[in-house]
Amino acid sequence: MNNIGVGISGIGSFIPEKVITNEDLSKMVDTSNEWIVERTGIRERRIVQKDTTTSDIATIAAKRALEDGGILPEEIDLIIVATVTSDMAFPSTACIVQKNIGAVKAAAFDISAGCSGFVYGLNLAYSFISAGIYRKVLVIGAETLSKIVNWQDRSTCILFGDGAGACILDACEDGYGILATDLGSDGNGGHLLTLPAGGSKLPASLETVSQNLHTIKMDGREVFKFAVRVIEKSANIAVEKAGLILEDVDFFIPHQANLRIIQSAMKKLNLQSHKVYVNLDKYGNTSAASIPVALDEAYRRNLIKKGDVVLLVAFGAGLTWGSTVLRWNKQEV
Ligand code: ACO
Repeated sequence: MNNIGVGISGIGSFIPEKVITNEDLSKMVDTSNEWIVERTGIRERRIVQKDTTTSDIATIAAKRALEDGGILPEEIDLIIVATVTSDMAFPSTACIVQKNIGAVKAAAFDISAGCSGFVYGLNLAYSFISAGIYRKVLVIGAETLSKIVNWQDRSTCILFGDGAGACILDACEDGYGILATDLGSDGNGGHLLTLPAGGSKLPASLETVSQNLHTIKMDGREVFKFAVRVIEKSANIAVEKAGLILEDVDFFIPHQANLRIIQSAMKKLNLQSHKVYVNLDKYGNTSAASIPVALDEAYRRNLIKKGDVVLLVAFGAGLTWGSTVLRWNKQEV
């Protein structure tokens, strides 16, 4: 596409009502509020009711994004759902959302790129629109991690929460919207963060269930080191590709995994705290939902103004990472 940009024309999110505080967790596993706050910055997280699915919350976020953009479901050409907690192996969660919102002409599929999924999805949407294949693409990051967390494992259950965020990508003014993206992966680190059973390697069986292999397994220390390393590298690449320098960044939304990871990134990228959005204290790590939820909150709080350079940086299972630089094309709320 030569003369127009591709930007976010509608955005929405959903966070469930039910709160689990650190205090609640300290009654379930051997931990404390002090330990969790000091090591992660997380104070509470939200989780869905037992009968609520990822597609349910993805649908709410999608409807809010449609409403925000003044867009009808029939106008959507493609739905991409980034998730590691799809309703089931198939059909895709994207197809369920398509039915729920009545996006009758949309193609739909899921992507699995861990916590980087939403940033991957943005880039896919950008590519489809830039190539002239589609006009309006709905990208959703949605997770119900509470369903795959081992609530007896203190090293992981303290970290995660549920949520959904959605954006509609569309043509926008030239010079606005997505300016550059950096995506990467390193399958050699795949074993650091896994959900071992339920796929072709270890199909569900009494044995896999009794060994708790359908829950998240993580080498926290190694993931931490990877995250600190890759955020700096990927952010620099994306900003440079956009023809900008880090001082040009007005607003930074990192994946909300751990406050210490974010603080390290701020230091390395020399970004002051007023430019950085943090909500992991309230929601924990919502994986693919974390960046769109944070972006939606920041937008609704009028923290992002039209023309601002916004940097999104994610990292996650795979291992994967991704950064997007946007020039914000929406007017304030
Ligand atoms: N409460 C109290 N003690 C704990 C807890 C807990 N909840 N969890 C672990 N500990 C203990 C450990 O057992 C260990 O004890 P030991 O020294 O007697 O063996 C001690 O605390 C230190 O453990 P570490 O794992 O070294 O603690 P660390 O400071 O690394 O913090 C944490 C652990 C919070 C998991 C950190 O490593 C981290 O955040 N890593 C990144 C994780 C992440 O971001 N994952 C997601 C990214 S991708 C995605 O979003 C899917």
